This record gives sequence, structure tokens and C-alpha cells, in this order.
Amino acid sequence: MNKKLISAMLCATMAAGMLAGCGSSSGSSSASSVASATADTAASTEAAADTASTEAAGTTADSSQMTIGISMPTKSLERWNRDGSYLKEQFESKGYNVELTYSDNKSAQQNNDIEGLIADNVDLLVVAAIDGEALSQVLASAKEAGIPVISYDRLIMNTDAISYYISFDNYTVGKLQGQFVADQLDLANAGDKTYNIEFTAGDPADNNATYFFNGAYDTLKPYLDAGTLVVPSGQTEFDQVATAQWDTSTAMKRFQNILGSYYSDGTQLDVALCSNDSTALGVTQAIESDYAGSNQVIITGQDGDEANLANIVDGKQTMTVYKAVANEAVATLDLAVALLNGETPDASLIDKSGWDFDCTYDTSSYDNGTGIIPSYLLVPTVVTKDNMDAELVDTGYYTKDADGYLHPVE
Ligand code: BGC
Repeated sequence: MNKKLISAMLCATMAAGMLAGCGSSSGSSSASSVASATADTAASTEAAADTASTEAAGTTADSSQMTIGISMPTKSLERWNRDGSYLKEQFESKGYNVELTYSDNKSAQQNNDIEGLIADNVDLLVVAAIDGEALSQVLASAKEAGIPVISYDRLIMNTDAISYYISFDNYTVGKLQGQFVADQLDLANAGDKTYNIEFTAGDPADNNATYFFNGAYDTLKPYLDAGTLVVPSGQTEFDQVATAQWDTSTAMKRFQNILGSYYSDGTQLDVALCSNDSTALGVTQAIESDYAGSNQVIITGQDGDEANLANIVDGKQTMTVYKAVANEAVATLDLAVALLNGETPDASLIDKSGWDFDCTYDTSSYDNGTGIIPSYLLVPTVVTKDNMDAELVDTGYYTKDADGYLHPVE
């Protein structure tokens, strides 16, 4: 329901020329991928002689005979609920059966869940890893069973079983957060003025977390080096500021300690650079309960979680980096269809699919320890109180209630 509504709303706001692209992003693109793959297969005697690709083309013709296994990390972090339902809806809209699992942020459980999906003979796996280092063995079984694996949003490390990575430009997420802070405080023209900042990063088991942190840190480094930005806690290493499992209360407790140790003497905190919304939520709670100052602390985030958007409306959080996971699901579907057709997708998938969102094909950034994993990277967007309606409501991703709060379209 949600994707259809989003498509309808997106289409309604688009020019006639874009309408074709809009339709193709959620519908005919996959059909055209299938059609062109079928044509390719028919045209190539070599391919016709190749049992594997003949089988792939044959089975894909009847998607109702195929099952997609989707392994998501947890329902307790909001975005994965949206990812799971968008992905399910995308694949089902093309007639595929879907088995969707959530593993309660427990790596052992995710291993079991994926084993179960393999035992159920799924035709393709879409996996967002809880611990990127802990899936090598189970994915080796997937490879042995000939099941293609798409590493979804988080790069799965140390396995040659994954064929593609699909995500947002993770380093840019952090860069946008850092640049937002630099712009808000006009750091380039700060002169002798100094500002206090504290960092909160994500889960060390999540390969994305260092990308987010490095993107933000690298952007602010010139100001840290110049002394314009000061970190009173001295905690500037990823390992010092990381948050296991991206957990809200873990982030809150760490920040309460920081406030108690370094700010209780009246030192002003200007910025809490948080890598995502679940950690920003905890940091905001800590500031509300334990910060003595009365200034508005700049707080960054990522995802557009409902509670954080409410905090942005209420002026408690300053920004979030929004990643349209509905589009990530559309791209995943088209990539999966191409793989199931026995194709080897490359940059041309982007044009061929006619997506109405930006995406780059990257063959240099993401090495998972077994080599570079070809990646499709979507583009994140800064959302503040000022552009929230335009970016989130007018695009159909969220609705706005009478009190001005946003709710994701489910
Ligand atoms: C995702 C973020 C999310 C975080 C915690 C990361 O891998 O890219 O969007 O905030 O996990 O769920």
C-alpha cells in the first residue's frame, strides 16, 4: 500500500516527462529488465547453451515460483521496519514470494534465520547484517547452494558470497552532518571564537558506522586542528565514541557521563554530533536530564525516525540525514531481477531501470576483505525543520498530522 501511495503521490507532483520514469521505477523497469534479459538470452546461442543462465531466465519468467529471502537486523531500530515492509511490497508487487525475518539484533539468531531461508530454498537473499563480520560461514552455504546474495545497506565483510552491495553513500552521510555544523556555526569565519563539540558514533559491528563517523570527522577536522572546535571530553577516536547496537539508552548513559564529567562546571556544549537518530534520541534525553546549560545544542542525526522528526519540530534536534529507503527497495528489486535473469548488472542498470532518484555505480570504494564489491549508492538528503515538508511530506514518504508532527506512510 505504501509504495503505491508514494508512487501515486510522486507521480502526481511530476511533470509529464517524468511520469514515464516514475512508472518505470516501480513497475515497468523490472518488466523491461526481464524482457531485455530474455531477449539477450534468446539472441545468444552461447547463453542458450549455458544451463545456468537458461535456468535463470526460465525461472524468472514465473516469479510466482520464486522466493526472496530477506534478513533484516531488528524491529527495535525504526528504519528496518520500513526497509522490511518496502522490500516485501516491492518483491510481492512483481509476483515473488517473500520470506522476511528479523533477528532481534542477535548475530547468532541472524545466522540461524539465514540458514532457515537457505533450507527453504529461497532463490535470492537480501541481507542487512547485524554483525558484518559474522556471516561468512552461513553465506558460504548460500553460495554453495547457488543463491545470489545482495548485501543490503550494510556491507557484509570477509565473504566472497555476496555479489553486490546496495546502500546510500555512507561517507557523504557523515560529511553532510559535519558540513551542517560548520555552516550553522559559520566556522570558516569564527575568528577567535571557539565551540565545544562531542561525538557519538554507531555500532562497531556495522561497517557503515566508521564511514559515517569519518565523513563527519574529516569535514570538521580543519576546525578541530585550528582549535575553533574543542572536544572537552577528549573523546575523538571512533572506538571511544561508538555505541554498541546503535542503542538509544547506551548512547544516553554515555552522554550523561560526559555531561557529568566535563560540563557540570557550567562549560557550554554547542554541538552533539550524532551519527544517527537512535543515538541522537539518547543524547537528547541526556541533555534534557543532565545538562545545566540553557543554550540550544546543535544535534545531528540520520534516518528521519518518527520520534526524532518530532524533536526537530519541537526544536530539540536540529537536523537528520534522510535516506529514502523506499527507493533503496526499488533499486534492490531491479538489481535482484537482473541477477535472477543471469545478468551481470553494472552501471547500465541505473539507466535501464529508469529510476526517478539519483544513484551511482561504484566499483572502487567498498572492499569487504575479499575484494571490491560493486555497489549501487543512493544519495542522502539533509532534513531540517525548514525543508521537512518539502522533503518528506510532499514526496509522499510521511504524512503530517494536525499538530504538525510527521508519521511514516506504512
Ligand atoms: C544504517 C543507518 C541506521 C543504523 C542503525 C546503519 O547501518 O545505515 O541508517 O541508522 O544502521 O539502524
